Amino acid sequence: MKPSDVRVILNKYEEDRGGLISILEDIQAKYSYLPHDALKIVSEETGRSLVDIYGVATFYKAFSLSPRGKHLISVCMGTACHVRGAPQIAEEFERQLGIQSGGTTTDREFTLETVNCLGACALGPIVVVDGHYFSKVSTTKVKQILKNAKDRLDKISIEKDRRIFPVEVSCVRCNHSLMDPNFLVDGCPSIKVIVSFENKHGWLLLSSLYGSYKVSSEFDIPTNTIINFFCPHCNAELSSATACTACGAPMVPMIVKGGGMVQICSRHGCRSHMLDLNGINF
Ligand code: FES
Repeated sequence: MKPSDVRVILNKYEEDRGGLISILEDIQAKYSYLPHDALKIVSEETGRSLVDIYGVATFYKAFSLSPRGKHLISVCMGTACHVRGAPQIAEEFERQLGIQSGGTTTDREFTLETVNCLGACALGPIVVVDGHYFSKVSTTKVKQILKNAKDRLDKISIEKDRRIFPVEVSCVRCNHSLMDPNFLVDGCPSIKVIVSFENKHGWLLLSSLYGSYKVSSEFDIPTNTIINFFCPHCNAELSSATACTACGAPMVPMIVKGGGMVQICSRHGCRSHMLDLNGINF
């Protein structure tokens, strides 16, 4: 870890030294974890106590205090996935990678972890690789998942990739569909909402592919901005009492056609989202 690299990150947030989460996100992005020495520099430069900083770093699941591999594989061990074979899937990953769950391969290519329910139980067993959801995974698919991760999932054509599945959503207040078949994002009908932030107010189109983060909007939205979402039909604000587990911003709920709820983080740039196809829980 080079102290000068950490100072470059801190300089970026000179005006906003309160933006600790953004600073930690940048450090994590650079090193794949939060090195202790980097956190000491953050403490010295921002005046925040190291205890405080560790408090934030350990609260959010997105941060790691130990080195992670280039690719993070999370196998859901919640009850629904467990009864459908998640333990065997985790064992197969362990066998093929030659590590135990919680470990990182010696070439720092993969980190394997098991996690609790990811909120997509109806589609289990669920495995998440670098933020991409794989549904109905079986042990025979493990080898291919690892190969795809190495070949960079980002380069896979998500228009053709059935592992990233589309959802149709409607407003939690008026139940009117939010789908816009006239504007495609990722090759599928988009989800159209009205957003406001700072003094701006206008439309935003979200990809309806669960696992894709593509959006299109009439303004440039600065990363980290918390946005207010509204239904374009009844104008009600789409808000829930749930906070994002990754960054603490409010989550934005939408009803999934066929039953259930999807929630996305209201902070632009945060990739957190939850899908609960079994019930409404906000
Ligand atoms: S138990 Fe795996 S997603 Fe819910």
